[in-house]
Amino acid sequence: MEKTLLEQYRPIAEQVVQTAREMITKGLAYGVAGNVSARLPDNRGLLITPSGKNYGKLTAEDLCFVDWQGQVLEGSPRPSSELAIHTATYQARPDCRGVVHTHSTFACALAVTRTAIPVFIDELMYVTGGPVRVAEYGFPGSPELAQNLVGALTDVQAALMANHGVIGLGDDLAEALHVCEVVEKISEVYINALKVGPIFELEGWVIERQRKAFLAKKARQRGQ
Ligand code: 13P
Repeated sequence: MEKTLLEQYRPIAEQVVQTAREMITKGLAYGVAGNVSARLPDNRGLLITPSGKNYGKLTAEDLCFVDWQGQVLEGSPRPSSELAIHTATYQARPDCRGVVHTHSTFACALAVTRTAIPVFIDELMYVTGGPVRVAEYGFPGSPELAQNLVGALTDVQAALMANHGVIGLGDDLAEALHVCEVVEKISEVYINALKVGPIFELEGWVIERQRKAFLAKKARQRGQ
């Protein structure tokens, strides 16, 4: 008998569950907010958290296997309502293997004021590869939101979604979650720094050098 998709992809499914739980325990989302997905290793689609599920009780059996056309192949019949932003991100970024969408507090404060995070602190470049832009507003779950988002994510690992939240991506789920964590921390620094005084953005030559270091790190990770 042919194996189910869950039987074939159990390790990656467990990683999605673990990442969704950590997103909550790290305070990056709460209740049923946020969602997590992973590209299937053979690229036949993605594995995503179901809509409206309490992540404390999430198991691998609750996840949805979805193909690139958005058809559910197996698992819960109700994938995350934000399926479109996950699918569009994987299609626009062939390097991306994990996506985490959070509603963390400081990053959301920037998202609702539509304030991008400039490159003002060394850590940002090394983690996101550049500034964190704000994708134009799109109704939650809509193709417009997905299109606006991929426009903000062309060459970086994170973006804010106007009046909504954060998206972080990575070569794996651990990186995608780390990106969301760092964006939240740096959003907090940015908001506090704005109260203290003018912010000095990093100079062009510094940004250029750090971007090179970021790309070199990525190439090493990918064994290129
Ligand atoms: P889902 O439960 O449908 O994934 O929606 C949560 C969310 O955060 C929407 O932005």
